[in-house]
Amino acid sequence: MNLLVCGGAGFIGSNYCRYVLRTVPEDRIVILDALTYAGHRSTIEDVLATGRAEFVHGRIEDRDRVRQILTEHRIDAIVNFAAETHNDRSLLGAEEFLRTNVLGVQSLLDACLDSGVQRMVQVSTDEVYGSIGSGKWTEESPLLPNTPYSASKAAGDLLCRAAFVTYGTPVLVTRGGNTYGPYQYPEKLIPFFCTRLLTGKKAPLYGEGEQVREWIHVDDHCAAIDTVLRKGVPGEAYNISDANERQNREVAAKILEALGMDESRIKRIPDPRKGAHDQRYSMDSSKVRALGWEPQVPFEEGLRQTVNWYRENERWWRPIVESEPYRRFVERFYGPVLGEDL
Ligand SMILES: NC(=O)c1ccc[n+]([C@@H]2O[C@H](COP(=O)([O-])OP(=O)(O)OC[C@H]3O[C@@H](n4cnc5c(N)ncnc54)[C@H](O)[C@@H]3O)[C@@H](O)[C@H]2O)c1
Repeated sequence: MNLLVCGGAGFIGSNYCRYVLRTVPEDRIVILDALTYAGHRSTIEDVLATGRAEFVHGRIEDRDRVRQILTEHRIDAIVNFAAETHNDRSLLGAEEFLRTNVLGVQSLLDACLDSGVQRMVQVSTDEVYGSIGSGKWTEESPLLPNTPYSASKAAGDLLCRAAFVTYGTPVLVTRGGNTYGPYQYPEKLIPFFCTRLLTGKKAPLYGEGEQVREWIHVDDHCAAIDTVLRKGVPGEAYNISDANERQNREVAAKILEALGMDESRIKRIPDPRKGAHDQRYSMDSSKVRALGWEPQVPFEEGLRQTVNWYRENERWWRPIVESEPYRRFVERFYGPVLGEDL
């Protein structure tokens, strides 16, 4: 197949390219990425070096560009990772989130209509469901997003449903849990903690760190997305979960342990959200498991490997944490609460 991987220079998208190149020798990949603050060429150097993937710089909302790529490269399937992805940033301003996560998705759906594309996978998130005290969400649970980020992702999901119902567009949606692994932009919890601790700084934890998230290794998440692409039923959504629920403070403790550091390196900070912080995410993933997918990476092992990857790949993350957009965000968001520990 010829795959168009949108957002392929980001965290999960680049790991997905590696996964496909490793597992499906006949597939070729075109990466379309806007290289926002979160996308970097250094993230896909190895992917492009295989000679089976090429890079196009552009935005998914650019309808003409997308159509041109679909025709020129005879694209069979689209996997869309392109998104504004950081919840905390969406609290500071939501416009970019709407542009990419809503208008961008519609642009891809429209482009599918008059092209030879046989499948599109829209990569979404468990955050569209909101927060759940007990039990698990199924794919039929209502979408009740609580932040501008998750609301924009829910809008993207619903546009996919509408395209399928109205035009029969062969689109599938995946809703994955919190993902960790190599090449994750260091604003998200695990790489944020690793890179701050490795540079001698304190790592900030909201409140007592009691929020519960489901963690999944990026290789498992990518394998599930690929299973949905090749075996899923168009028009359907699939939850992707390792059923691995952890409180944030437990994740923090395991990172400290892997780095041989103690609790004194954590600074507890008040949550900047004026309303409630989503307390717990938990999904039933029997639907994707029925397609033959099973997670393979145990959390303790995956986390140890990930922490080691950040320890050994300062060359990748150092220029990012020293970049202007990164420093501006950390100062603006954490400055008021971290004070002298910034
Ligand atoms: N990281 C997680 O824990 C997680 C969990 C579940 C779902 N997801 C979803 O997975 C997808 C990928 O997440 P990620 O963590 O890899 O994100 P990321 O922020 O690391 O990467 C996003 C990529 O999209 C590119 N991009 C942004 N706007 C674009 C546009 N308009 N046109 C083209 N490219 C654009 C960026 O340059 C970047 O390379 C997202 O849709 C996200 O909602 C992420």
